[in-house]
Amino acid sequence: MTAGSREVVLGRHEDLKSRQRIVVDVDGTGVGVYFVGDEVRAYLNICPHMGGPVCQGKIMPRTLEQVAENGKSLGLGFSKDQLHIVCPWHGFEFDMMTGRHPINPNVRLKAIPVQVRDGQVVLTLEANPS
Ligand code: FES
Repeated sequence: MTAGSREVVLGRHEDLKSRQRIVVDVDGTGVGVYFVGDEVRAYLNICPHMGGPVCQGKIMPRTLEQVAENGKSLGLGFSKDQLHIVCPWHGFEFDMMTGRHPINPNVRLKAIPVQVRDGQVVLTLEANPS
């Protein structure tokens, strides 16, 4: 923790992780918190495209082009291990584990430090996280 930051305890990890995602408001700062198995990620609820409430968007598997050995397209399918957050305003997608846009790695969600400590999910918020 740095000067000017503070910790916010969200609750027991055991209770929260079955929800896959929660969006919390901490004194006007919206944060999406994502649970994948025992992993936890948190992102500022502001889309880097035009500021939409990205963390309130759908969660869905990454769409992938399936290609045969001969290079012929087999059509679209869904990833079995990558989940995306889809911004509800214009559909930009972000990897749930990294916050990165799948095509442009320079476009990404702002990660908020989060950890599970003594069974509690704890966010660390800067004084001005945006
Ligand atoms: S504001 Fe999120 S896709 Fe445009």
